[in-house]
Amino acid sequence: MATTRTQVAIIGGGPAGLLLSHILHRAGIESIVLERQSRSYVLERIRAGVLEAGTIALLRAVGLGDRMDREGHPHDGAAIAWEGRPRFFIDTMKYTGKQMMAYGQTAITEDLYAARDAAGGTIIDQAANVQPHDVISDRPFVTYEKEGLSHRIDCDYVAGCDGFHGVSRASIPATVLKTYEKSYPFGWLGIMSPTPPYPDLCYCYSSRGFALASMRNPMLSRYYIQCDLDAEVEDWPDERFWEEFKSRCPEDMAEKIVTGPSIEKSIAPLRSFVAEPMRYGRLFLAGDAAHIVPPTGAKGLNLAVSDVFYLSRGLIEFYRNGKTLYLDCYSDMALRRVWASARISWWLTMLLHRFPNETPFEQQMRFNQFDYLQASAHAQASLAEQYVGLPFEA
Ligand code: APR
Ligand code: PHB
Repeated sequence: MATTRTQVAIIGGGPAGLLLSHILHRAGIESIVLERQSRSYVLERIRAGVLEAGTIALLRAVGLGDRMDREGHPHDGAAIAWEGRPRFFIDTMKYTGKQMMAYGQTAITEDLYAARDAAGGTIIDQAANVQPHDVISDRPFVTYEKEGLSHRIDCDYVAGCDGFHGVSRASIPATVLKTYEKSYPFGWLGIMSPTPPYPDLCYCYSSRGFALASMRNPMLSRYYIQCDLDAEVEDWPDERFWEEFKSRCPEDMAEKIVTGPSIEKSIAPLRSFVAEPMRYGRLFLAGDAAHIVPPTGAKGLNLAVSDVFYLSRGLIEFYRNGKTLYLDCYSDMALRRVWASARISWWLTMLLHRFPNETPFEQQMRFNQFDYLQASAHAQASLAEQYVGLPFEA
């Protein structure tokens, strides 16, 4: 078996793994990224695209802000349009002084690959049977197969950045890992359309179900509608999608929606999931490997970024001065932010969707929650603070 050595073996070449590798490189720390899929597959995945203020600041601080600042669409919050009620704006600028940015995860992944390539970083794609070993010893290693050959990477630490279906979390014994899960009784049907987007990011609540208008760039819009769990993309030709979307937003908004052919259409179920702890010996989980949030509020990518911020800080501290203070508190610190985002994305999901079999009482609670938000500057400030993203802990 061919054996190599690195300082940090990173399993998974999504945003979490690539960003970690990039930040470590800037601090003079070596890593190897092992990705199961091909690069083109990773680059074609379409995911949410709203960046919190802390994510924007971190990407700029690590030299990844140029294209984002050129092509991203900064905004001061998002609108909530509620059937039969006045529109409400989550004003992050007014309440926090901070902006957000519409910039797709696909573009961030491209930027990360470009940065790793420019720095001569090692990203091994199509790595099969990746497996971490001996992570509770001082000499962990990772094995994998590529083109029929077996390989071994000796390392100091393993970063499990391999998403929800990865091998890292699965390698932690069930006696150690505690998981929390909630699934929701609907999905989101999303389309990408090469049309000018609706100018505001707008979340719509309607008696027909939730809808969301979002954007990627001046000629690329992203729209979603709540759908049944058994819905199939084939049941939703473009005309049906647009008609349904427009029926769920206020008339003045519907009139301004520029429709056109979709270039991508997909359905995703909604789920909340958290695994604790995010560390097992020398294995650290980051991003979707440890948690999933429903897309309402677009917290998934932002959480991956904050995990990587905390984890890179711990690894840099270790390699600079041999201390493990930040690595030792990584799991607790990361999880505080994970739970905060899990809660706000759950809360927004509960607020903005139609739930099958809901009682009239539950509906009234939802309407009143909206009316309270609409009327209370305190409630608005609280939502704005969470929507723009809580600060990273010192
Ligand atoms: N071996 C190697 N790589 C793996 C393995 C494995 N066994 N299993 C999964 N992977 C890879 C996947 O192919 C994927 O490219 O790990 C990567 C994980 O990337 P993401 O799923 O994008 O997760 P993460 O980097 O944590 O980014 C979080 O993704 O799902 C969204 O909303 C989420 O935006 C957030 C972001
Ligand atoms: C998106 O643009 O894909 C998006 C925006 C806001 C969300 C979720 C997804 O809450």
